[in-house]
Amino acid sequence: MKTITFAISLLLVSVVAVSEKQDHATVKASNTINHHEQSGRRAQNGPNAGKRMATWRKAHNDMRRKYHVEFGGTFKSVKWNMELKNHAEKWAKEIVKTCVNRTPKSGQNPNDYGVNSAVKTGTRGFQNPITVMKTWEKKLPLGYPKNSVMTQVLWRNTGYVGCADASSAVGAEKTCTAAVCVYAKAGNCAMKRFGFNWTQAVIEGPACSATCPPNLEVC
Ligand SMILES: *[C@@H]1O[C@H](CO)[C@@H](O)[C@H](O)[C@H]1NC(C)=O
Repeated sequence: MKTITFAISLLLVSVVAVSEKQDHATVKASNTINHHEQSGRRAQNGPNAGKRMATWRKAHNDMRRKYHVEFGGTFKSVKWNMELKNHAEKWAKEIVKTCVNRTPKSGQNPNDYGVNSAVKTGTRGFQNPITVMKTWEKKLPLGYPKNSVMTQVLWRNTGYVGCADASSAVGAEKTCTAAVCVYAKAGNCAMKRFGFNWTQAVIEGPACSATCPPNLEVC
C-alpha cells in the first residue's frame, strides 16, 4: 500500500537571523541555546519525559475533541504508543542531520505509518508541542491536501500516536530542531470515495495502513 506521509516545513527567517547572531557573536547566547536544548532532552528522555509525552497526546486529543464534533462525528481519542514514539525519534534525528524537512521513503517506514513533521531552523531548543499543533491547525482551512498534517492529526480511525523531537548536533553547519509525530494506522486515504469532502473523510475514512506497530494487534 502507498505510504501516506506528510510534512510541514516551518522556516522562520527572523529566528534564523537571531540565532546566527547568537552562534557567532557571543558565547553567552550560545550557552543559552545549549541550556534550552539540554532541558529539551531532559524533557524528552529524562524525569520529565512522561509530562512531555502527555502534552503531545493531549495536544492531539484537544484538537480531536473540538473537530470531531464540529465535523459531525463523536470524539474519539488517540492513545500513546512507545513504538511510534521511538520511530518518531529516529526520524527526527534523521531530519536534523540536514535540517531539511522531509518524509521517510517507504523503506524507512516499513509499517506504513502516518508521519507529520515540523522543522524550525535557527534554534536547537525543542518546540512546545502545543505551538507545533497550532501551526498545523492553521493549515486546516486551506483544504486537502494542503491541510494533510492536520487531517492526519484528526483522522478518527487513527488509534495511536507517538511523537519525539531532536536537535542538530552542536557545531553542525546548520542549526535546527525537528518535531515528528508518527501515527498508526495512517490517515489520509480514500479521499476520492468521499468526493474529496475531507471533513467527512476525517470522520468516516478508513484506517489506511496494512499493519500495526509490532506491539499492537489492533490500531
Ligand atoms: C461534507 O460532508 C458532511 C458530512 O456528510 C456534510 O455535512 C457537508 O455538507 C459536506 N461538505 C461539502 C462541502 O459537501
